[in-house]
Amino acid sequence: MSTPPHVTPWWKSASVYQIYPASFLDANGDGTGDLAGIIAKLDYLKDLGVDVIWLSPIYRSPLADMGYDISDYEDIDARYGTLEDWDRLLEGVHARGMKLMMDLVVNHTSDEHAWFAASKSSKNDPKRDWYIWRPGKIVDGEELPPNNWESLFSGSAWERDSATGEYYLHLFISKQPDLNWDNPVVRSAIWDVMRFWVRRGCDGFRMDAINCISKTDGLPDAPLVDHTQYYQPASMYFANGPQVHRYIKQMHAEVLSHHDLITVGETPFTHEESELAAYVLPQNRELNMVFHFELMDIDSPPESQLLRKPWTLGELKAIVSRWQRFMRDDGFWNAVYIENHDHARSVSRFGNDSAQWRTVSAKMLAVFEITQTGTLFVYQGQELGLKNFPRTWGIEEYNDVAAQNYWNLIKEKRQKAQGKKDVDMSDLLDSFAQKARDHARTPMQWNAGAHGGFTTGTPWMRVNDDYPEWNAEQQIGDDTSVHAFWKRALKVRKAHDVLIYGDFVMLLETDEQVFAYTRNYGSTSALVLLNFKEGKVEVDLGEVIGGVARYAFVLGNYEKEAIGLEEKVTLRGYEARVYVREALLN
Ligand code: GLC
Repeated sequence: MSTPPHVTPWWKSASVYQIYPASFLDANGDGTGDLAGIIAKLDYLKDLGVDVIWLSPIYRSPLADMGYDISDYEDIDARYGTLEDWDRLLEGVHARGMKLMMDLVVNHTSDEHAWFAASKSSKNDPKRDWYIWRPGKIVDGEELPPNNWESLFSGSAWERDSATGEYYLHLFISKQPDLNWDNPVVRSAIWDVMRFWVRRGCDGFRMDAINCISKTDGLPDAPLVDHTQYYQPASMYFANGPQVHRYIKQMHAEVLSHHDLITVGETPFTHEESELAAYVLPQNRELNMVFHFELMDIDSPPESQLLRKPWTLGELKAIVSRWQRFMRDDGFWNAVYIENHDHARSVSRFGNDSAQWRTVSAKMLAVFEITQTGTLFVYQGQELGLKNFPRTWGIEEYNDVAAQNYWNLIKEKRQKAQGKKDVDMSDLLDSFAQKARDHARTPMQWNAGAHGGFTTGTPWMRVNDDYPEWNAEQQIGDDTSVHAFWKRALKVRKAHDVLIYGDFVMLLETDEQVFAYTRNYGSTSALVLLNFKEGKVEVDLGEVIGGVARYAFVLGNYEKEAIGLEEKVTLRGYEARVYVREALLN
């Protein structure tokens, strides 16, 4: 039995809304979203039922990876505003009883950060050891990078710097040099950055790629798995490395333990529960929760998240139910999310974004999320059922460096193999249309005006074509909209502790169309029925829950009025229903 809600920390029941600032709302007409735009929408967020806003990075940055490359941790990029704007934002957030969580990107900095400029200036600079520098490796008289690690955004993970002739490590693009966490001075500089924001009033941190901060000693070559190239995936040597828990425990002791913060670590390349448990179990004094990647990786082959592999509902059910039940009694806590700035839109991936099914399946996915235990995350536009942009958009619309680099790599390989410049890339565009990060980064669709009301200027990224019909203004006035449903769904979650804290029991385990489960908390049970396909389906509850008496309807995506529960239930296409039952007290 889990701890009763009155003694649990506030962040467990929180609904967190992630803002991607560049694409939220542009208040000054320069084509990029800004802090003033966010301030203008605080009432919208409060009305939706948001408790915590997570801001993707707004620090000074050359934006080589959209702000995940920071050149000054203690200043706001001029595109977004000023520190004073941030103070105003915080004030507005707090005045509405909400909280503000910042993105902490400290596995790496930008190569334009003053720390890196000093580090690369000379081998003797006091900051040389703040980054990971190594001499090249001579093989058959030829100089190669220090090892064969592949960057997560294609090519070598090493860049040679001509000033000293040495290479620096960058797990992501070359403009994102990795900090050397083994240097205690670097760690204390990071604690100072965190203290800076906590002193200024922020309420927590989402920690970017935090499981990558400790690399295996000696930086060994990765095993050869991709025979088409020299560079090899190397996450076994940088994810969950030897010192990672020591460093995060130190962060906890130095900074986190002194404040009441929400903390969530991003932990890619890890499907092993026990590995992730170590970050989260309360007695370890590290983080509140992590974003595991198992569900996000369900439709990706090992070579790239930009490619698509078919997935089955059985796989999804197995992943979700495993995490929902994982080490609950020991205090493990989930972060529940199906969308963020690194993934395509959830209605296009897990629902059905055709005209007929888009609304109802987006609502079904809302029910899927709000009926899981854990802290809930909603990504901007998800509350409107925003979908991927169309396949007809060309590669020039994909701004993301991950898509661009991967495209160029594959194109070069094909050109070489086929001995011609003009090669067919349409299959890759098919994949990108389904999987690229860019789909989550199109501007928010506020109204039917030019560029969806996002900007009065020229948007930095094209707005999805459907904004005249799919926008916030249209949906707010419509009780049957995805937005109205999310608002209701977030309220239902808050009204029923069983949905937040209850145990999870999967029903109909082998069913490939329906995901059904019960949640139990004290004397309350909830029953959740989700049809993940278009076709109608009959579910025989009599066999699995032994009686449907006293189950009261609390939420459904077809009609608002209560639908009674029979032992044999017919679920319509993408139908979702939630029932709650209070046990009779004797
Ligand atoms: C994280 C971010 C992603 C970024 C990467 C490098 O995965 O979510 O957007 O590209 O780290 O910072």
